[in-house]
Amino acid sequence: MDHFAIVLGLCRSALQTENPAISGHVERLLKALEKEGCSDQSAALRKVLKTGAAATEIAPSRVILSRASLVGETLTPSVPAPVDKETGAPLASIFHPDHIKTPHPIFNNELSAGVSALLEEWQHVDELRKAGVRPALTTMLFGAPGTGKTMLAHHIAAELGLPLIVARLDGLISSFLGTTARNISNLFSFANRYKCVLLLDEFDAVAKLRDDPHELGEIKRVVNTLLQCIDGRSNIGFTIAITNHEFLLDPAVWRRFDIRIEVPKPDIHTRSKIIRRHLGEFVQEDANINFLSWITDEGSGSDIEKLSDFIKRQKAIRKSDFDFLNTVKSHIQLSASEDESKNRLLVTGDYERLALALANDRDAPFNQEQLATLFGCTQSTISRWLKKDKLIQGEK
Ligand SMILES: Nc1ncnc2c1ncn2[C@@H]1O[C@H](COP(=O)(O)OP(=O)(O)OP(=O)(O)O)[C@@H](O)[C@H]1O
Ligand SMILES: [Mg+2]
Repeated sequence: MDHFAIVLGLCRSALQTENPAISGHVERLLKALEKEGCSDQSAALRKVLKTGAAATEIAPSRVILSRASLVGETLTPSVPAPVDKETGAPLASIFHPDHIKTPHPIFNNELSAGVSALLEEWQHVDELRKAGVRPALTTMLFGAPGTGKTMLAHHIAAELGLPLIVARLDGLISSFLGTTARNISNLFSFANRYKCVLLLDEFDAVAKLRDDPHELGEIKRVVNTLLQCIDGRSNIGFTIAITNHEFLLDPAVWRRFDIRIEVPKPDIHTRSKIIRRHLGEFVQEDANINFLSWITDEGSGSDIEKLSDFIKRQKAIRKSDFDFLNTVKSHIQLSASEDESKNRLLVTGDYERLALALANDRDAPFNQEQLATLFGCTQSTISRWLKKDKLIQGEK
């Protein structure tokens, strides 16, 4: 067959969207090629057909969703991101669902339930529309730094099987104020054209604009353009905005988001799960995991990741000389933090006081067996430390 490479390319692109009519035509072509004895060409086409079918089998809900629920073209990896017309700088990064490698974030039960409810709603947009109910397509994620907000946005896009278009508003806005309004409109036009999730990360950049020394009229125009673009998109496609500084946003901005999700710092059970995921087989003793959950009491998922990475590096370097408690102590010394938690401070003090604090913890007291594992000593030593304290308390 002439121009078979082009025909094959066409089939490959067409099969990216599940459509029985298209696969039917490709199958007909395959049969015709087999009949004509074009074995190489029919083998190549069969492979393309199989890959298309496999992609559909792996994530059936994805395909059904992107076909039924959203209008717009399919954003394939060959479509480039929109750029600033003057400088050529990209206005966004695009992450395709099959390339999103981020694992799902680990949250406490209430937040996990909230996220599931959001996903359920977004997966049933089509049904909502059929029932005459306006779906809620805009979400604001807010909360402390490093708690997994960006990770959650990637996870949502991956679950929906849609590409994620990530606009960094801080970059988009601050560099070229004069052309910012045009860039924002172009970015939204691009997102509105395709089936996708639009992520406006660092959304507080909008609020910070008010303190900008540039001409006020211009800034107002930029903010208005952005708000109008969000309004215009609210019935078209999924939009997620993220901020760490929710208190900087005024009510006019909040109002635009149908769903608002606070992502808090993890509680002790959630910290323990995040630690287990990050450390894997590097640290498995329950006593040590519990201890790490305890000392990260004011910490975010990102703080836990840094601590876990440090432990892994130290264990890999020191091998049999690795000392768990000393490693944790070193990390605390190397990761100064503005809001020192009381538990972190105790680790840098003497071990007897630390053991006592752990044994007397109100929420999750450590037993003597756990303390012995943690401090690498016998239970009778621990018992002696604890008794010594009781005696001191008695004398007082
Ligand atoms: N809830 C979580 N579950 C698992 N890992 C987490 C969680 N939160 C944070 N992490 C880890 O911390 C890293 C940073 O998370 P992420 O960038 O999503 O935080 P963020 O809330 O967007 O932070 P920022 O507000 O600073 O942008 C993640 O790549 C992940 O490894
Ligand atoms: Mg982030």
